[in-house]
Amino acid sequence: MKRRLRSGLSASLLAVAACVALHSPDSLAARAAQTILKETCQGCHTPEADNALSRISHQRKTPEGWLMSIARMQTMHGLQISDDDRRTLVKYLADTQGLAPSETDGVRYALERRLNTVEKFDDQTSQMCGRCHSGARVALQRRPAQEWERLVNFHLGQWPSLEYQALSRDRDWFDLARKDTVPLLAKRYPLDNPAWKKWLSTAPKAEALVGDWSFSGHLPGKGELAGVMSVTADGSDTFKVSVKGQYADGSPFNGDGSAILYTGYEWRGNVIIDGVTMRQVFAAQGNAMRGRMFEAEHDERGLDFVAAKQGSSRLLAVQPGYLKAGVETEITLIGSGLTGKPNFGKGVEVVEVLEQSPERLRVKLKAAANAQPGLRNVTVGTLKGPTLSVYSKIAEVKVVPEFSVARVGDGGGSTPKVQGRFDAEAWGKGADGKPYRIGVFPAQWSVEAFDDRAKEDEDVKFAGTMQADSGVFTPGDAGPNPQRKMSTNNAGNLKVIAAVDDAGKSLTGEGHMIVTVQRWNNPPIP
Ligand code: HEC
Ligand code: HEC
Repeated sequence: MKRRLRSGLSASLLAVAACVALHSPDSLAARAAQTILKETCQGCHTPEADNALSRISHQRKTPEGWLMSIARMQTMHGLQISDDDRRTLVKYLADTQGLAPSETDGVRYALERRLNTVEKFDDQTSQMCGRCHSGARVALQRRPAQEWERLVNFHLGQWPSLEYQALSRDRDWFDLARKDTVPLLAKRYPLDNPAWKKWLSTAPKAEALVGDWSFSGHLPGKGELAGVMSVTADGSDTFKVSVKGQYADGSPFNGDGSAILYTGYEWRGNVIIDGVTMRQVFAAQGNAMRGRMFEAEHDERGLDFVAAKQGSSRLLAVQPGYLKAGVETEITLIGSGLTGKPNFGKGVEVVEVLEQSPERLRVKLKAAANAQPGLRNVTVGTLKGPTLSVYSKIAEVKVVPEFSVARVGDGGGSTPKVQGRFDAEAWGKGADGKPYRIGVFPAQWSVEAFDDRAKEDEDVKFAGTMQADSGVFTPGDAGPNPQRKMSTNNAGNLKVIAAVDDAGKSLTGEGHMIVTVQRWNNPPIP
């Protein structure tokens, strides 16, 4: 397939401007990248004014987005490039043609590999572009109309059967894509955006991230954790990382690794925790890092992560984040610069400060028996942010994620199983009658057939096993199962049930999990 690769000007100016801030144009890495672009890309991508190349210079995207484009050049167009050169290019392109932090807001779940996210886009985008891959893949790119249109052309050219596929043949996909979707995308996700120019000129230097970071996290099926992540410089925009932490149940969370910073804030780390490689996908801005840390081989096993640089002042988390009226409980505040006096709002008394360091403040609290149910703003001196839930009675239990996908695996195949991992969230009813989130509670977990079909096919028996006390579901082996009707595989359609005990009363919540086949095509951005 031949495509016309034509030029445009605004983006090349942008690329030049970009070099100045995040990459001095004559830095070694920038020169190496420009040489690679010339030697490996220019054969097909036409040179344009201001050192630009057709197509390449007219798009901005995340490091993962650039990696996917170049990997696609290799698989679809026979591009030859070494892994080292590809790394150099991804770094350079993400730095000079990346996305501003505000441009990734709301769609970072795709980078963080939260694959159970149920996306919310307008109907047009979901139906036209969100049926084969995530809508986030689209929302994480910036292009002028012409480049969006070429992307549409590429889709139909590469997959001519697209228009006959289910969920596409209900409409004139190609015509609608060109006439409606392209203008919409060009307006919503334009190449030229003041936020990006501003970020290029204000992005802090990578050195600003060197130091000790106090962190807090939560791993579904395991609980909360906290600790310190030490970051030392190891080359330009690359770091050595050492993590020392502990779960609330006392088990350790320690390890070492490395990280690289793209685009001035896109932190990507690899840390080995107790022999298991975990990836870090964080947005690092100023004195805060936020994102997700997950196992490289099992991205469903991951924790929400927030960190504050030591020396700065920030209140990150309240662990646990709830307290029952009339009851005394120990609560730990995590952050940095926690030097002031803690306050937990109306009806909550600090009985005793058990431990206070700038990173940790452990207190014994008591909520009055008649304390009003609802959220309290927690403060330490002038620091604020997180809330504490006061409750007297749980009104409702929710299974999180409400809808999820687990996948069969192993069984002699090359793909590991994808587990289901759940939290039981308790919700209360506030004085105003409105529901409020109390927090994650221990629960007893089970699965049931989702419908009659699942019952008849004995999905509960074959699809996998739910660990009763942790909410971790391990699917069955991959491959046909002679014990099942027509030797089908261990797929299933299940209800996920959490039973939470509230003072002797059991409340249940229900979620939905599909156990399905392996994900064979698993690019960095789903
Ligand atoms: C053998 C020819 C060839 C080489 C070499 C090549 N490309 Fe491409 N590239 C294409 C073609 C053809 C298209 C348009 C069709 C498509 O998008 O696949 C394209 C499109 C692109 C696009 C636009 C994709 C999109 O999503 O719209 C980017 C970005 C890109 N190339 C980057 C690169 C980079 C970076 C290199 C060098 C590392 C490179 N290409 C090398 C042939 C090539
Ligand atoms: C028929 C299924 C299908 C539909 C519909 C679809 N895509 Fe794609 N899209 C793909 C596939 C397959 C790829 C290539 C994935 C890969 O390389 O791993 C892709 C890749 C992409 C990429 C990454 C390209 C790159 O190289 O950077 C973007 C961006 C994208 N699609 C946007 C869109 C938009 C916008 C729409 C709606 C107008 C859309 N897609 C509709 C299947 C689809």
